[in-house]
Amino acid sequence: MGKGFYISKPVGIVSIILCAGALATIIALSVVYSEEKAKNNNQVSPTDGGTTSKPPVTTLAPSNEPWDKYRLPKNLVPDHYNLTLWPRLTPDLTTGLYIFTGESTVEFETTEETDLILIHSSKLNYTILENGHLARLTSVNSGVRVPLIKVSWLQSVTQYLVLQLDGKLMTGHRYHLYTKFTGELADDLGGFYRSEYMEDGVKKVVATTQMQPTDARKAFPCFDEPAMKAIFYITLIHDRGTVALSNGEEKGYPVTIDNQHVQKTVFEPTEKMSTYLLAFIVSDFDFINNTIDGVWIRIFARKPAIAAGQGEYALNKTGPILKFFEKYYNSSYPLPKSDQIALPDFNAGAMENWGLITYRETALLYDKEFSSNSNKQRIATIIAHELAHMWFGNLVTLRWWNDLWLNEGFASYVEYLGAHEAEPDWNVKDLIVLGDVHRVFAVDALASSHPLSSKEEDIQKPAQISELFDAISYSKGASVLRMLSDFLTEEVFTMGLRTYLSEFAFGNAVYTDLWKHLQMCLCTRISRTLRPTVNIIFPQAVDANGTELPDTVHNIMNTWVLQMGFPVVTIDTKTGVVSQKHFLLDPDSEVTAPSPFNYEWIVPIKWMKTGAVQSPYWLRGKSATNDAMKALGTEWVLANLNVVGYYRVNYDEENWGGITGLLILFFKLIPVINRAQLVDDAFNLARAKIISTVLALNTTKYLDKEREYMPWESALNNLDFFYLMFDRSEVYGPMQDYLRKQVTPLFNYYKTLTENWSKVPDGHMDQYNQVNAISLACRTGLEECQNLAKTWFKQWMDTNNNQIHPNLRSTVYCNAIAASGANEWEFAWSQFKNATIATEADKLRSALACTKQPWLLNRSYTLDPKMIRKQDATSTIVYIANNVIGQSLAWDFVRARWSYIFTQYGGGSFSFSNLINGVTKRFSTEFELQQLKQFKEDNAEVGFGSGTLAVDQSIERTTANIKWIAENKQNVLNWFRDETKPVF
Ligand code: BES
Ligand code: ZN
Repeated sequence: MGKGFYISKPVGIVSIILCAGALATIIALSVVYSEEKAKNNNQVSPTDGGTTSKPPVTTLAPSNEPWDKYRLPKNLVPDHYNLTLWPRLTPDLTTGLYIFTGESTVEFETTEETDLILIHSSKLNYTILENGHLARLTSVNSGVRVPLIKVSWLQSVTQYLVLQLDGKLMTGHRYHLYTKFTGELADDLGGFYRSEYMEDGVKKVVATTQMQPTDARKAFPCFDEPAMKAIFYITLIHDRGTVALSNGEEKGYPVTIDNQHVQKTVFEPTEKMSTYLLAFIVSDFDFINNTIDGVWIRIFARKPAIAAGQGEYALNKTGPILKFFEKYYNSSYPLPKSDQIALPDFNAGAMENWGLITYRETALLYDKEFSSNSNKQRIATIIAHELAHMWFGNLVTLRWWNDLWLNEGFASYVEYLGAHEAEPDWNVKDLIVLGDVHRVFAVDALASSHPLSSKEEDIQKPAQISELFDAISYSKGASVLRMLSDFLTEEVFTMGLRTYLSEFAFGNAVYTDLWKHLQMCLCTRISRTLRPTVNIIFPQAVDANGTELPDTVHNIMNTWVLQMGFPVVTIDTKTGVVSQKHFLLDPDSEVTAPSPFNYEWIVPIKWMKTGAVQSPYWLRGKSATNDAMKALGTEWVLANLNVVGYYRVNYDEENWGGITGLLILFFKLIPVINRAQLVDDAFNLARAKIISTVLALNTTKYLDKEREYMPWESALNNLDFFYLMFDRSEVYGPMQDYLRKQVTPLFNYYKTLTENWSKVPDGHMDQYNQVNAISLACRTGLEECQNLAKTWFKQWMDTNNNQIHPNLRSTVYCNAIAASGANEWEFAWSQFKNATIATEADKLRSALACTKQPWLLNRSYTLDPKMIRKQDATSTIVYIANNVIGQSLAWDFVRARWSYIFTQYGGGSFSFSNLINGVTKRFSTEFELQQLKQFKEDNAEVGFGSGTLAVDQSIERTTANIKWIAENKQNVLNWFRDETKPVF
């Protein structure tokens, strides 16, 4: 982040709260003021002609007029746009604002006659043209009468430019709509916005875009819906010496406009595409490049980052990942170039603009001196994710946002396949279980969850669209698609995918179109393959061609897509009875949402008996008997192999006893992923009161022998809940004693493996688990670990030479800062301010929140973008909340400042749900529950945007936590005490 982290003197949080309070009041007042003003200014007077005016805006109460509806009518279809934009990278001398100017002509066809034009537009100021209106309408074909514009205005609520005509546009005719406008190049991370950084003491400004989901309309008037695909002819005007980029290839030449000697960059016309995938960027960045099979690949970043070689990893991996997806989709990359750019200010992680992918710096730039293996994995997977969208999402686009889950879920699944191609030694594909399946189980087990699929008519407003970018769409989407690919076989899955892409290329589809293609391929394959037996388990298989499935793809998948939640499958190995039940973390919570399938799923079960893999079983209906699942004597059953199924598994007590015994004696007989599953299932079944907490805790007893990352990570995720619930109670001490006992062998193992911490373990997973070993050993107070962290940190302070390996930095910084005082903290703070790479700044930013001194915690964290970039504000607050000492500080900050945070730190990313879940995750008292409910009530008007669901989830989680503590505290305390009793 160059000298980019330009942070002014630390100011106390209290004073910032006061300042921000005053600021918020000013903002609130000015909103009311501008609304009032707009009411008196809602139509264009023809005498205003020729000047740039304040946009006339109406704020009338919603009626049933077409401009009061959020969806566009379907009578006008864009064909292409000619768009010129000129962002100014220095502030306007009179207003002090950064602005852009633009001119656009859109050619559209009338498919049904109409005298009304609605086109999206938000926060743009239009020049009143010679006709006295905000736009000019002409005909493409000569000899056609063009109706005159009667009135034109901006409908701010629904974000339209509205033109009422004095006659009809004729069906089948084409027209041109011309507009001239200006907009603010604000630092709001949405639409055409401004990013800033420091380079050699000089402030640099970048003009860049984030259109998804509904902000293209902030950059120019457009039919801003994903199905309104068009071709875009883009031109950017910019200062000479700066670089302009967009979706197509660029050609630039110098011009003089209004006596200004500038550069005009004209881009090759795009393919037919959706507005949300557009991108325009002006910067003075540098790039590196190569060409692979005719595709030109470039990585852009700040000049010092490129000079330091930080783009090399991304450049080296992009080609192979692109080639992998060409094979996977059986379709060549649809564009001549693929640009990727790292931006100092970026709300999400990355955005799949077609041909010009944008990233936050930490998601694209790699430096072996600073980046951990986890940073590296994130870069490889995020590149894979965005490249996957180049076909799935960009070439074929879902018709409306209600199907977003398929777009994001698909990319979130295949990102693991792409990353595996880039780094075949990592076993990265297994990590979907921790990163997506387990992650989303936690939210999808709440009664306040929601189904993957929404109805088109329920998703209308931009805020409703933004809410869809949640863990359900991403991680549940990824999990159920992985399950689908597994039971269809990858061969059938990719065949269906390929024919789907080829049918809908450059067009739009709905999710059931994919099911149709998969079904088609399944049928063709099965009729082509000679099968000795059809289906023994389900002779009633419905498919005429004799598919192995118990039903059609459509019907099976509907049970996963149209109802929320997932089942817990219980296998009684004494009777062979297999049954299913909606899994609820709080069994007393009330599920009010009706389900079309009565909360029953069609469940594919892969399983093994006493170590031998058996033929898969399908469960349909509440319960069924499968004699093969009976276990006799020392036999044991383990289901959901490799956790390819989106469900949890419970067993009869004896089988549980067998499995926990096996864990202690022969844990290697159970596949690694399933060891992680057993821990996660057991802890969650215990939280749901299906099994005892003691049984869950028993699954951790074998950990002193476990060396693999996935089971440890799974255990730590679950024990984290224990820390959250008990780190303010008497359970804390005995729990620390137990965990220290369990982790010490792992710590010693790594000490030996790394030759006293001087080497890096070879394997990717081993590198991860080394971090776990150190984190938990230090957290549980293992003195040797704490001394190690303090010594390494002190060496850095003394020599100003950081010898700590990047993999270990986050945990070492955090533990060193937690174990020491102001000097160490001050040192980290100054390192943070001077960091030259975002990935190092991020490690320090999170470590600064580990201090045990409240006054230090108070020092650095504010909503002042000069201190912490806007993109990092919400995660910083969550870091503070993670610290037991910072919890109430963070919560008080958020609830006192919600409306300010909400208006200033919006955008369509996950940050609000992360923020709300983050600051409330420790909540476990009646008092906290009341505060949370009050928070919901107090801010109902302001709203919670993408955090809406998180508020209800937090209330539900807190309610469950209160009950869980009451019922479990004593048992848990006793168990930890027993396990740490000295043995005589
Ligand atoms: N399309 C999204 C970016 C996005 C997210 C835009 C939210 C608007 C609102 C992009 O493809 C994406 O999913 N990015 C992820 C990264 C991925 C590896 C999960 C992100 O930004 O975190
Ligand atoms: Zn995505």
